Parts: sequence; C-alpha cells; structure tokens
Amino acid sequence: MIQVPDDIFTEPEDVDPDGLANLGPLARLAGVWEGRAGVDINPKAEGPERRDFLERIEMQPIDPQANGPQLFYGLRYHVHILASDEDATFHDQVGYWLYEPATGLIMQSLAIPRGQVALAGGRASDDGKTIVVEAKRGSTEFGIASTAFLEAAFRTDAYRLEITFNADGTWSYVSDTMLMVKGQDELFRHRDRNTLTKVADPRTNPLMRPPTTIEG
Ligand code: HEM
Repeated sequence: MIQVPDDIFTEPEDVDPDGLANLGPLARLAGVWEGRAGVDINPKAEGPERRDFLERIEMQPIDPQANGPQLFYGLRYHVHILASDEDATFHDQVGYWLYEPATGLIMQSLAIPRGQVALAGGRASDDGKTIVVEAKRGSTEFGIASTAFLEAAFRTDAYRLEITFNADGTWSYVSDTMLMVKGQDELFRHRDRNTLTKVADPRTNPLMRPPTTIEG
C-alpha cells in the first residue's frame, strides 16, 4: 500500500533536468531502433495467423515529470510496424516508458489505434538485463481499457512485455496479449517478438536544449 504524504502538492526543487542521465534501466532503450525479423501471431477466424514484420521504434527522452513528491524520468515512444509482404501499416503504437528513481518502478503506457490503451507496471531485474511490465483487465493501477467492440469480440485480459538487453547493444522483446476471442473456448496468446538494432542516437530532452526550441 502506497504511503501518501500529507503534502501532495510541493514538488522537489533539486530536480536534475537531464532526462537522458536519469533513465536508470531505461537508458538502453533511448534512441531510434530498427528490427527486420519480427514475428507476430494474431487471431484470425480460421485460427492463429503468423506474419513476419519490419519494425522501427523511436524513443526520445522527455523532461522530468514531477507530481508533488512523485518524480519520473522517461521516454516518449512510437512503434511503427509493416508486415514483410505489404506496404500498409501492420501495427502502430505510441506511449511513454517511465522510471521512478525513488522506488525503481517502471511503467509503460501504450495506446493502439484499435481503441485500446493500457498502463503496465513492473521493474528491471537486479542486473538490469531484463525489464518486465504487466497490465491486467480490471485493475485500476496497471489496467487495460478497450472499446465496447473489442471488449465483446476480443476481450483483452492481460498484457505482458519482457525486454532483454543483449551483450551486443541490441535488445529483444516478447509481448504477450491474452485475448478472449468471441466464440472460442480458450484464451488466445497474441504474441509478438523482435530484436532491435540502434540506427540513431536519442536527442536531448527539451529542458537541455536552447530556450528558443519548442520542438518536442
Ligand atoms: C508488435 C506488436 C503487434 C503487432 C504486429 C500486432 C498485430 C496484430 C494483428 C495483425 C492483428 C489482427 C488484425 C486483424 O485481423 O484485423 C492484431 C489483433 C489484435 N491486437 Fe495486436 N499486434 C501487436 C501488439 C498488440 C498489443 C501490444 C496489443 C494490446 C495490448 C494488441 C491488441 C490486439 C487486439 C485486441 C487484437 C484483436 C482485435 C482485432 O483483430 O481487430 N496487439 N494484432
């Protein structure tokens, strides 16, 4: 149970403005990444469909976020995915990765244009080599919200993402989204996996740039 202090408004005055320097375990995600060997297993009427995909992920540091005594550093991200055999977007996703230095909490907020959002929470392993975040339908803390159609036809019960940082500087993920598909008896494991290689370094966060810069 979280201890909420009496003063929920006063913000710390000694906040380090350097977003990149305070990302903790998220530091290795900052930058622009590409992966050409993604694999998706998605639900189709005739059963699970496997598709190979190409992925680009941009993760840029944001300014420190203080809410009263709570302080987060983080990355704003955009995932864009094309199936290997067609030009139309196969998956698009935006959100934030957030890190709370005081507690080690890691959060991923995600939004996808099916009318679905989630806030997943977790932490890094002690050696910093993996990060796991999870969200469950019905939780008011780390939960999932969906349109009425998705709720009725593809009820999303759980989401789990595991990231592994590889020795060569790449990182890999396995994403599991558990779907209750209308008319089926068992949960469907909608799984995605890929390995990402850095193609560009991150920018600095806005506070670290000249004051005339308004670009996010
Ligand atoms: C690399 C990541 C992902 C890829 C490439 C991907 C791709 C797909 C594809 C191709 C479908 C079937 C679409 C169709 O038949 O119209 C699908 C279905 C779905 N996905 Fe994902 N997905 C990804 C991640 C996620 C995540 C993270 C979530 C939610 C947390 C999610 C939620 C859903 C849901 C609810 C459906 C069923 C609804 C539907 O078929 O329209 N997906 N996904």
